[in-house]
Amino acid sequence: MFPKLLQEEVGSNILLLPHFLGVCRKDSKKQAVGSRMIFVALLLGVSMGVMTEDPYLGIYSNIFFDWKVTYGTIAPLGVPQQGILINGEFPGPKINCTSNNNIVVNVFNYLDEPLLLTLSRVQQRKNSWQDGTPGTMCPILPGQNFTYHFQVKDQIGSYLYFPTTGLHRAAGGIGILQVHSRDLIPVPFDRPADEFAVILGDWYKKGHKTLKRLLDSGRSIGKPDGIVINEKSGKVGDLAAEPLAVMEQGKTYRYRVCNSGLKNSINFRLQGHTMKLVELEGSHTVQNVYESTDLHVGQCLSVLVTANQVPKDYYFVASSRFARRPDVAVAVVRYANGNGPASPVLPPTPTENSAGIAWSMNQFRSFRWNLTASAARPNPQGSYHYGKIDVTRTIKVTNTRSLVKGKLRFGINGVSHVDPETPLKLAEYFGLADKVFKYDLVKDEPANEPAVVAPNVVNAVFRNFVEIIFENHEKMIQTWHLDGYSFFAVAIEPGRWSPDKRKLYNLQDAVSRHTIHVYPNSWAAVMTTLDNAGMRNLRSEMWERTYLGQQMYVSVLSPAKSLRDEYNIPESQQLCGIVKGLPKPTPYAGT
Ligand SMILES: *[C@@H]1O[C@H](CO)[C@@H](O)[C@H](O)[C@H]1NC(C)=O
Ligand SMILES: *[C@@H]1O[C@H](CO)[C@@H](O)[C@H](O)[C@H]1NC(C)=O
Ligand SMILES: *[C@@H]1O[C@H](CO)[C@@H](O)[C@H](O)[C@H]1NC(C)=O
Repeated sequence: MFPKLLQEEVGSNILLLPHFLGVCRKDSKKQAVGSRMIFVALLLGVSMGVMTEDPYLGIYSNIFFDWKVTYGTIAPLGVPQQGILINGEFPGPKINCTSNNNIVVNVFNYLDEPLLLTLSRVQQRKNSWQDGTPGTMCPILPGQNFTYHFQVKDQIGSYLYFPTTGLHRAAGGIGILQVHSRDLIPVPFDRPADEFAVILGDWYKKGHKTLKRLLDSGRSIGKPDGIVINEKSGKVGDLAAEPLAVMEQGKTYRYRVCNSGLKNSINFRLQGHTMKLVELEGSHTVQNVYESTDLHVGQCLSVLVTANQVPKDYYFVASSRFARRPDVAVAVVRYANGNGPASPVLPPTPTENSAGIAWSMNQFRSFRWNLTASAARPNPQGSYHYGKIDVTRTIKVTNTRSLVKGKLRFGINGVSHVDPETPLKLAEYFGLADKVFKYDLVKDEPANEPAVVAPNVVNAVFRNFVEIIFENHEKMIQTWHLDGYSFFAVAIEPGRWSPDKRKLYNLQDAVSRHTIHVYPNSWAAVMTTLDNAGMRNLRSEMWERTYLGQQMYVSVLSPAKSLRDEYNIPESQQLCGIVKGLPKPTPYAGT
């Protein structure tokens, strides 16, 4: 059964989760998180593993959050604008949890527009009901609240959450979700002295409503106005800069760095220090040391930094990539008991323009999966030999850009997605798909037909092992993300893809991740098993493009309609569009 929420004491945040892996003991221990008590996490109960099918069952906690989403005035680039705050915070509160925790987030929408947050870049197994995209669930209307509940099952690493509605992502509502390994699982590096969350991104001075109006009128939002580091845009020499991080001499720290921007790839570096890459989008990597790292839109990684320099201030630098005049922002990293300001001489960006792309592509090739390290389970990551599995389907995804009735649209292979009023997943589940969308308008090969504007859904077969080729014929970099899955990023190469290019694939130790970037006039290949039934969004991570249709949904149904493959619709699921008020279909069977 889907982990059904029994509301024991409505209104007091006491929820009882009969966890599908075990029974749950109600044992509420209130724990205030953060001195300001801005949000309260109730650590409730422990679920004791009683079923034996999962040999790694430990004691899982349920972590509860109440999030008030409001507008507030922010000025990350020095110009006041309308921002989106969570419990008054910008960036939003950190979700800190451990593999297999159940996360319950009650989101209250105080905006004047419908809202959805995607909290699920961590794969939600068997559960696309609350992926937080308009194709999977009804938006939270102004003045209403909705409770997301999901399990970070067998996940570790660093992830972003953010709003998927409108251009909200340009205004805030963004934060980091970090998943630790359980105590019994070895982590391939010593426990760092502390961790710092660093959210980088480009930023627009225009408010999100203005940006949305531009797109609705068929125009582009243009170039971003600057770069922010944790929503501040520090400049060299700024006085009284609050440090991004404080390190003690001799200790090693983990920096979890994410690019939450709308368009620009970013290069980041720390004056005088090197960075050891240890985690990339939920995988432990081979621990290479870098002087600077490229991070593309929507991506997260972790680096270790050892405080082994003269104790004083240093600049953490973020600059936009592949731009003739890069935007730059700095933040101060301070040594405790340090003495002296950071040097105004910033470490250089790796070469720019086309040479920068070659550098960046090489850096991508150096990212490798550590085959012997454990991820969320004790067995080594490399025990899954993806390179030995036969590909059952090749899907080619080309980003397209066109004018439709004089208005700018982006698409995939010529199909430009629009969200119907009824979420695709609900229409499908209620047997009303044909009233809302047509499957497979988009073909596996790019079509040369005029652009079609319609809901874009491909039908895929459960457990097929697919290869997705992303081809970018444009002059800008692209990044793609697939909800609900990790995929092996086996190649990024210049030019066009053809079957003989498969000899360039890394079939040994490509990193398992959930976003992939594609350089201008280049291609990228990823491989994955479609074993997570549900309706999953495959989209450009660049929100102008996503908003104007560069996305599609991959529908993977459980052939047996079995609960082994997919949970039933949660009791609490909101219904809207043509399914509003309809009785729920017969639940799936099985255990
Ligand atoms: C985050 O969670 C981990 C694992 O549960 C814990 O060790 C750590 O202290 C937590 N950090 C914060 C800042 O709460
Ligand atoms: C809205 O919040 C209230 C109070 O916490 C809670 O009881 C209710 O379940 C929430 N509604 C939804 C749809 O999550
Ligand atoms: C891979 O992980 C193992 C732990 O299983 C660790 O001992 C080793 O140093 C790591 N290798 C590299 C190259 O990072």
